[in-house]
Amino acid sequence: MMKFRSAATALFLAASLPVLAQQPGQTTYAAKCAMCHGADGTGSTPVGKGMKLRSFKSPEDVKATDAELFKDTKDGIGRMQGYAGKLTDAQIQEVVAYIRALQK
Ligand code: HEC
Repeated sequence: MMKFRSAATALFLAASLPVLAQQPGQTTYAAKCAMCHGADGTGSTPVGKGMKLRSFKSPEDVKATDAELFKDTKDGIGRMQGYAGKLTDAQIQEVVAYIRALQK
């Protein structure tokens, strides 16, 4: 009974947090991208600095279309491997939306 109740509470909490609900890509980003690109997208992690990552907030990435960011993520670019087969197209789209949110 307790278990059921805390699960119900968790569901209720998740539903009442609109910010999280709007950003389904955040979980994927935190798990798969943040170790290089940084939680804030600026790439200021030890790995990111070593790989000379540019910030998602750079003019190039702000100007890039969603389709370009999607393709880079799916097919890979330069030293970054692609995520085709590891993330679904829907998940990649969500992560791109999350990158857009980080750029603001
Ligand atoms: C192992 C470190 C690493 C991880 C993990 C990683 N990336 Fe990257 N990413 C890179 C590097 C390095 C580049 C620059 C590639 C180049 O130009 O040589 C890059 C470039 C990009 C670019 C092209 C734009 C830019 O700023 O250069 C996008 C978009 C991108 N990554 C998205 C993602 C997403 C989304 C994830 C998670 C699903 C992710 N990356 C995970 C290392 C990483």
